[in-house]
Amino acid sequence: MMCFSDQGGINMSCFKQILAIVVIVCMGLCFCLNASQKKQFVIGFSQVTTTEPWRLLFNKELRDEASKYPEIKLIVRDGKDDIFKQIADIEDFIRMKVDAILISPKTASEPTSVINKAHSLKIPVIVLDRDISNDHYTQFIGGDNQKIGHAAGDYIVSLLGGKGKAKGNILEIWGGKRSTPAQDRHQGFYEIVSQESGIKLLGEGKDGDWKQDKAYEIMVDAIDTFPKIDVVYAHNDPMAFGAYMAAKDADIHKSIRFFGIDGIPMEGVRWVHEGILTATFLYKTPGDEGIRQAMRLLLKGETLQKRISLPTLVIDKTNAHKILEKNGLLKK
Ligand code: FRU
Repeated sequence: MMCFSDQGGINMSCFKQILAIVVIVCMGLCFCLNASQKKQFVIGFSQVTTTEPWRLLFNKELRDEASKYPEIKLIVRDGKDDIFKQIADIEDFIRMKVDAILISPKTASEPTSVINKAHSLKIPVIVLDRDISNDHYTQFIGGDNQKIGHAAGDYIVSLLGGKGKAKGNILEIWGGKRSTPAQDRHQGFYEIVSQESGIKLLGEGKDGDWKQDKAYEIMVDAIDTFPKIDVVYAHNDPMAFGAYMAAKDADIHKSIRFFGIDGIPMEGVRWVHEGILTATFLYKTPGDEGIRQAMRLLLKGETLQKRISLPTLVIDKTNAHKILEKNGLLKK
């Protein structure tokens, strides 16, 4: 490029071209620098298990929300239903110096000290769905399980004849007894049904550990032990379904009403629609809200409120079909 004029000075149009090139190159450099400097946040998520549909939905909602933030690098660890694996996973996250930890623990007491340790090292910790033994963490997000227990109690009391007149034998099948949702689902339910002198709770309430196959076995035993079962209240839908299957195999399912909790469309809601369960109670997964809250803290530096309670809903034959339609699981 001939940039010098005959007089030895710089040719003006050539100078402008060079200036334009310099400006464009600088802008490009600035852009690249900016992009590479954009903060990445590593979030470690410890999920108790991935064998149940509710947990798969939970992971999906969490991953879908995380994918909306290019800043997030998400590390998901499956606890394989083993609290000691979960504790080791949290220790790993601490060693990796992740920016935030999300955890849905198997039980309350065992993970408390490792969660407290992360918290004391100033790593934000958001506990999801099942609580621990103290509140030395950043935030808890989950459903109000006592409220769900109350709603189930009210529904069953009115089904059995109404307040003050209700009569019947109820078999309660517990979720993991060492987890807070099971304790609260029992407590809320008990507060309602224990006021009814005509209602009898059968046995001491066996621990089905949230599992369909264990609930099946519990129901087989109950059928052998108790002459009459009117209602089964199971702490989740898979266990309610397991109990139903045992009753069906014994050909007594038509005389028993089954209740569960979770209300995910492809399971509990479908079973209500098919008449297998009388009702289920929505227990929304905290996956998406967990990511939203973590990003409020990491991106904007907001102080998070200590507890977030997710809403519930009674699902019975009056609204199950609408939920299935909305989720594309039923033709209009
Ligand atoms: C899934 C699950 C749900 C239940 C929740 C309680 O692992 O058993 O069915 O509502 O955990 O923490």
